[in-house]
Amino acid sequence: MRLRVRPPARLHGVIRVPGDKSLSHRALLFAALAEGTSTLQGWLPAADCEATLRCIRALGVEVERPAADRLIVHGRGLRGLQPASAPLDCGGSGTTMRLLMGILAGFPFPSTLVGNAQLSRRPMERVAEPLRRMGAEVRTTEGHAPVYLRGGTLRGIRYEMPVASAQVKSALLLAGLYAQGPTTLVEPAPSRDHTERLLWAMGATLEQHGRTITVYPAERLSPLDCAIPGDPSSAAFPLVAALLIPGSEIEVTDLLLNPTRLGLIEALQAMGAPIRVIPEGERHGEPVGRLLGASAVRLQAIEIAGPWVPRMIDEFPIFAVAATQAEGTTRVRDAAELRVKESDRIAALAAELRRMGARIEEHPDGFAIEGPTPLRGAVVHSHGDHRLAMALAVAGLIAQGETIVEDAECIGDSFPGFVKRMQALGAEIEMEP
Ligand code: S3P
Repeated sequence: MRLRVRPPARLHGVIRVPGDKSLSHRALLFAALAEGTSTLQGWLPAADCEATLRCIRALGVEVERPAADRLIVHGRGLRGLQPASAPLDCGGSGTTMRLLMGILAGFPFPSTLVGNAQLSRRPMERVAEPLRRMGAEVRTTEGHAPVYLRGGTLRGIRYEMPVASAQVKSALLLAGLYAQGPTTLVEPAPSRDHTERLLWAMGATLEQHGRTITVYPAERLSPLDCAIPGDPSSAAFPLVAALLIPGSEIEVTDLLLNPTRLGLIEALQAMGAPIRVIPEGERHGEPVGRLLGASAVRLQAIEIAGPWVPRMIDEFPIFAVAATQAEGTTRVRDAAELRVKESDRIAALAAELRRMGARIEEHPDGFAIEGPTPLRGAVVHSHGDHRLAMALAVAGLIAQGETIVEDAECIGDSFPGFVKRMQALGAEIEMEP
């Protein structure tokens, strides 16, 4: 599938984006471990989350699905998963594989986790190594999937995390539920904290002091009845498009506003973008609300480094598109993690945005973009990376002439309905087989 994109007159309207991906994975995984029946509404029916659903069912959990985005999960309790009869297929989803490694470390039976070619290039030792320290048997394939794992009696550890990764943190917190004694993690910088918030809401005991988080062994988790708010990482695409297309004004309703996810919005505001965040209370310990965005007169370049990076880790592809239109040199440092995402996002972004005329310099741990640069339509490639595909589509909306985004089916990994929602706002994007 490819996208054909042309610059529209302006974007205008109110939308809701699909449910948050991180919360959708976690709500399903934790509901499977709860005692009793959980109801998840607004669950994200995207390829990554479908992988989690497939794996959870393969582990013996009954899940009813009255609608694509509504799940009824019959939890089996913290000790109730059953061995899968075949390798657990995590598709392209890093969250599925890494969080499942943490959970399965608590079970005495052997498990094999496999992924597609893209996921099999991503690092898994970062989870395997601390799980071994806790007492699990874990084997990776030269640091990658397939992962072979047999858990059992775990001991609590104190672990200084070398990278700020919510997936690693979550895996170890989940394993910590099964350990004898507390497990303490020290993060180099705060990463998204959905696991902590949701486990807390389900009755687990956790303590946090700055970057240090301790989880205590748990007896039981209570079931959930939750409505998952929209994904701010998906909202980022229409938002940046509205900032960059003159005369635009959009509103995104029912959105997750967890502060560990708002780094992009803060960056854009610091660059001069007229964005308003309107809090509307909390759901299951997570702040939710609305977002208003309108076209910006002129964005100013900015530097992003240090603890800012994990708070916008998934947003660098679309941030780079905004940076091409900012005055001055926008620099991103301390972001080497971008090289081990769905694609090497530093190399892929540089290669594709250059095709459209952007002035972007690649660094080992980030990039520098000089702006403002008028973009020109081109044939660009997604590298099989959903966030790159959507960022390039937005770049096409502000480019002169027509842009083709090749291999765009990966958008379904996180944002089903992206094209429809963009069209509803007035964007000229068409899907072609
Ligand atoms: C995620 C954490 C991040 C992020 C990913 C989702 C999560 O990965 O990039 O899209 O749900 O925990 P890392 O933990 O590897 O930074």
